Amino acid sequence: MRVIASVEEMRALAAATRQGGRRSALVPTMGALHAGHLALLGEARRHGDPVVLSVFVNPLQFGPGEDYALYPRDLARDRALAQAAGTDVLWAPEAGALYPRPPEVTVDPGPVGAILEGAVRPGHFRGVLTIVLKLLAVVDPGVALFGRKDAQQAFLVRRMAEDLSLPVAIVVMPTVRDPDGLALSSRNAYLSAKERALALALPRALAAGVAAFRAGERSAGRVIAAVWKVLGADDDLSTEYINVVDPDTFLPNHAATARSVLAAAVRVGGPAGRRLIDNVVLGEGLERDPVAPAGEA
Ligand code: PAJ
Repeated sequence: MRVIASVEEMRALAAATRQGGRRSALVPTMGALHAGHLALLGEARRHGDPVVLSVFVNPLQFGPGEDYALYPRDLARDRALAQAAGTDVLWAPEAGALYPRPPEVTVDPGPVGAILEGAVRPGHFRGVLTIVLKLLAVVDPGVALFGRKDAQQAFLVRRMAEDLSLPVAIVVMPTVRDPDGLALSSRNAYLSAKERALALALPRALAAGVAAFRAGERSAGRVIAAVWKVLGADDDLSTEYINVVDPDTFLPNHAATARSVLAAAVRVGGPAGRRLIDNVVLGEGLERDPVAPAGEA
């Protein structure tokens, strides 16, 4: 595995790849790799050569008061995991290499960038799309892979590629979960045992929404009510949003369909606690069934 830090060396490798008639497959990450990232790397192998993994904690997508400084960083560990997953190139630039000065020009994510995650985290998707565009500009991959765990991000990246005529195909992969149903996330490392146990309410609540849909419920409001019944029952959870959105527009659906995305965000341990997001396609259900809490049948 080749490990690259500079922008220039990454560009040179991208140019050589193109000249050799090959197209790379890019998996953009912020590191603290887990099995969700590794699944993207495994799939990347089928889409391009070389497989390029970028590790960059992007300051532009963190708001003031968010966890940019605290975000878990361990390049030695990421390097070992990436190598074991068969990655060809690990590109891990320093913040100053990609942002020698604060950017004047950034990507406008449009109205969908201002709802759900965008409403809670103003400027987040502008930061995400700007860095993704920059990574694509340097690596020049034929394919870039993203996780459905961040469904709104994946939607906006797809729309950016289409709307800005980027010469890249976007592949979106299912959410990888722990055996108890919790979606893997680099930020799960922050959770105490108690917070992690509380967090399980999120996949259980989404499963309750799916169960309502499967039982024939087609009112988005009543699917949301089924989710709220689980999340609202616990005083240690603070719900930021629950929504049913159309996968083609990411705007709220009034009538739920099998393709609708049920998305929710909660904080564990009250309104200032750790933030978790998750989502599910109503007609598909969770990739793993969440466990029932202790004391429930
Ligand atoms: P990060 O959170 O490191 O995630 C990198 C990629 O892994 C994203 O596409 C994300 O959706 C995917 N991913 C995360 N958890 C997953 C899971 N449990 N199952 C499947 N895929 C999962 O998302 C980002 O970084 C950044 O915003 C980035 C796109 C790199 C731009 O900075």
